[in-house]
Amino acid sequence: MNKKSLYIRTFGCQMNVRDSEFVMALMMEEGFTQASSIEDADVILFNSCSIRKHAEDRLISNIADLKPLKKKRPGVVIGLMGCTAQSYKDEILKKIPILDFSCGPGNESDIPGIVKDILENRCPVIAIDKVNEKRPELFPEYREGRSKAFISIGQGCDNYCSYCIVPYVRGHEKSRDARDILKEAEALARRGFKEITLLGQNVNSYKSADNKNGFVGLLESLNAIKGIERIRFMTSHPKDASTELFKAMTRLEKVCEHLHLPLQSGSDKILKMMNRRYTRKKYLKLVEDYRSIVPGGSITTDVIVGFPSETDKDFKDTFRLMNEVRFDSAFTFKYSPRPPAKSSQLKDNVPSEVKDARLKALMDIQCESSLMRNEELIGNAVAVLADCRNEKHPSTLTGRTKTNKTVVFEGNDKLIGTIVDVKIESVKPHTLIGRIC
Ligand code: 5AD
Ligand code: SF4
Repeated sequence: MNKKSLYIRTFGCQMNVRDSEFVMALMMEEGFTQASSIEDADVILFNSCSIRKHAEDRLISNIADLKPLKKKRPGVVIGLMGCTAQSYKDEILKKIPILDFSCGPGNESDIPGIVKDILENRCPVIAIDKVNEKRPELFPEYREGRSKAFISIGQGCDNYCSYCIVPYVRGHEKSRDARDILKEAEALARRGFKEITLLGQNVNSYKSADNKNGFVGLLESLNAIKGIERIRFMTSHPKDASTELFKAMTRLEKVCEHLHLPLQSGSDKILKMMNRRYTRKKYLKLVEDYRSIVPGGSITTDVIVGFPSETDKDFKDTFRLMNEVRFDSAFTFKYSPRPPAKSSQLKDNVPSEVKDARLKALMDIQCESSLMRNEELIGNAVAVLADCRNEKHPSTLTGRTKTNKTVVFEGNDKLIGTIVDVKIESVKPHTLIGRIC
């Protein structure tokens, strides 16, 4: 029998990118190959994101677009994994009847078995029962890249920010054992990987019985692994980020000087309604501490506009804070009610045009700030881990600085996966342009 092929389409965050890679690895171990396109695949899997309604609507319409394909090739297996699978539970098969199976976060390691069953029996399957269980520790061989890899250090979230669906679809916070994280990082180092990114909804609350010193202790152990040259992490919650972490970022030479610190709002009233458990003053103090302890470190953020009852004054507080901090980059979002998250019970009372105008104002100021921060680097030499050829200008490569900025520079393929010094000659808001020095 010919080998069956799998195509995974991923929506959403880096956690989903990592989960897709994990499932691809499990399926390859079961003899599946990677399909080059959806049209050629025997099994098509959508890894879904529920964080905003727009993301979910796009996903559902993308799956529905496969109706003609399913008609032409009724044997093709179409599955859903990730947050939307968990959020809709059994309902999803009514909403998207062409689905053969739906599998929540936590049940991913069941996917090879589910697919095999469907190929033999063709019965729709729902698997969503393990969201609160600790995941089995598996170390599949397959990785998408050759120099950079994601490592999950925990699942779920207990923070219950009032707008956020994550605790409902990814379950309670569960930290992975440090021993397993270290084993995974060591295996990657042996295979020549240079950079790892530690993923968790709130890395600063990482705790495990086999690692006394929490997240900083984990960073210390990882920093000692020979071969790993860069360690990144995300996301940090401002209520838990500490000067101890910032000191570790300076002390541990492999830990990258980049902090993703979601602000969400600069208004104390809105922060309280969001259940974020910090004030604008506390946030500003953290930024000040970070910048004094980690000189040259970058800082990025997430902001939501149009949370219920956000007035012009509340918005101005956010705008002022962004103007004061001048982030290196920011993801800005329009509020979207996500039942059963708490704030979905509040009236979504900021008109859509007002949300649009506020979003545009934040994007404009952020573009200005990103350019300003990048301009500070003109004339400096920065260490860049070369990632890949730049498709737009094939004589150039792209790579990242330790501060997570994208750099474009002339170079040959041999440099991919190595760290080179690049002198920055010009900048744009989202890119630095330079020459190897
Ligand atoms: N509406 C808009 N943005 C949201 N985010 C999370 N939930 C919502 C929501 N209901 C944003 C937050 C978070 C990022 C990943 O997505 O800014 O940090
Ligand atoms: Fe959602 Fe808040 Fe948890 Fe982040 S910390 S995943 S925003 S509930």
